[in-house]
Amino acid sequence: MGVETCLGIESTADNLGMGVARSDGAILANVITTHVPEEGGIHPREAARHHARVMGETLSEALDTAGITAWDLDYIAFSQGPGMGPSLRTGATAARALAVRLGVPLVGVNHCVAHIEIGRLATGAEDPLALYVSGGNTIVTGFEAGRYRIFGETLDIAIGNCLDTFSREAGLPYPGGPAVERLALEGSTLIPLPYVVKGMDLSYSGLLTAVTKEFRSGKWSLEDLCFSLQEVAYSMLGEVTERALAHTGKRELLLTGGVGANKRLRAMIGSIAEEHGATPCYVPIGYATDNGAMIAWTGVIAYGSGIRTPIERSHIDPRWRLDRVEVPWRS
Ligand code: ATP
Ligand code: FE2
Repeated sequence: MGVETCLGIESTADNLGMGVARSDGAILANVITTHVPEEGGIHPREAARHHARVMGETLSEALDTAGITAWDLDYIAFSQGPGMGPSLRTGATAARALAVRLGVPLVGVNHCVAHIEIGRLATGAEDPLALYVSGGNTIVTGFEAGRYRIFGETLDIAIGNCLDTFSREAGLPYPGGPAVERLALEGSTLIPLPYVVKGMDLSYSGLLTAVTKEFRSGKWSLEDLCFSLQEVAYSMLGEVTERALAHTGKRELLLTGGVGANKRLRAMIGSIAEEHGATPCYVPIGYATDNGAMIAWTGVIAYGSGIRTPIERSHIDPRWRLDRVEVPWRS
C-alpha cells in the first residue's frame, strides 16, 4: 500500500487549524488562524463565524504549503469533540462537505487524544505518562488496556482558563498564559495562595478567586502576582504528575497542550522526570496549542487501524471524554 495523505481540520475553540499529514509520519502543513475576541473571553458563536469566514483561505494555504491539491487527499480527519459546539460544528460541516465532494472517507478524531498523539510523533515518546494542559483541559493520563486512562484531572476550571481569566482581569493581553509567563520572570515574592490537590485531582477555581482578590487589593506588584500564580498552579500539577509517574512506572513523561509551551512548567516537568529516571518529552511549540496537524496525524493512525466515521455518525460531541475513546492503534 502506498503512502496516504490526510487533511486534519481542528476547530474546537478559538483556533481554526488545517494540517496535512502523511502515513509515513511527515507533516506537510500546519496552518493556524486564531479568532481574537474584541473583549472578554471566547464567544462561541463569534469564533464559529470567524472559522467559517476563513475556512476557504485556510484550506488553500494548507494545500499550497503541502504542495498538493484537494484531489491528492485520501481521507479527511476532523476534531469531533470535546470543545465548543458552534466551533466544532463549523469544522465538522466543512469536513463532511469536502469528504463528500472528493469521495473520500471521514475520520472523527478526539481532540485530547490528538494532543497526545502529536506529542508522541514529534518527540518519539512511545508509551509516556502525559500531562495535557490547555485552556479547556488539565489531565494526567497514560495508555492502559486499550485506552488513555485518566489518573488525575481538574475538578473545576482548566489551568489555561485560570491563567487567561486572571490575565484578562489584570488587563494583560490575550492569551493569558504567555503574558503571565513574561511578567512572572520579573517577580520573586511568593504571595500566599490556595494550593488545592484532592487525591489525584486538582482545583483551580479557588486559586483564581484568591489571586484576583489579591490583585484588586493593590497590595502586590503584578509581577509578584504572576510569579506566585505560576508557582502554585504548576506545583499542584507537579505533585499529581509525580505521583502518577511513580505509580505507573512509565519511562517517559510527555508535556503537551497549550500550557505545555510554558518554560517554568517545562523545567518542573524536567526535574520530576529526572528524579524518576524518566525521559522528559516536550511537545514542540508549534504543536502545543490547537492545530490541524495533530488532527491530521491522529486521523492517519486511526484510519490505519480501521476507524471510519460515516456521515450519519459524524455529529460532534462537545463532551467527548478522553477515556471513552478506543485506541486500537496502540493495542
Ligand atoms: P483544549 O485543548 O482544552 O480544547 P485550548 O483550545 O485552550 O484547549 P490550546 O491551544 O491547547 O487549547 O491551549 C491554549 C491555552 O494555552 C491558553 O489558555 C493559553 O493561555 C495557554 N498558553 C499558551 N502559551 C502559554 C505559555 N507560554 N504559558 C502558559 N500558558 C500558555
Ligand atoms: Fe486543545
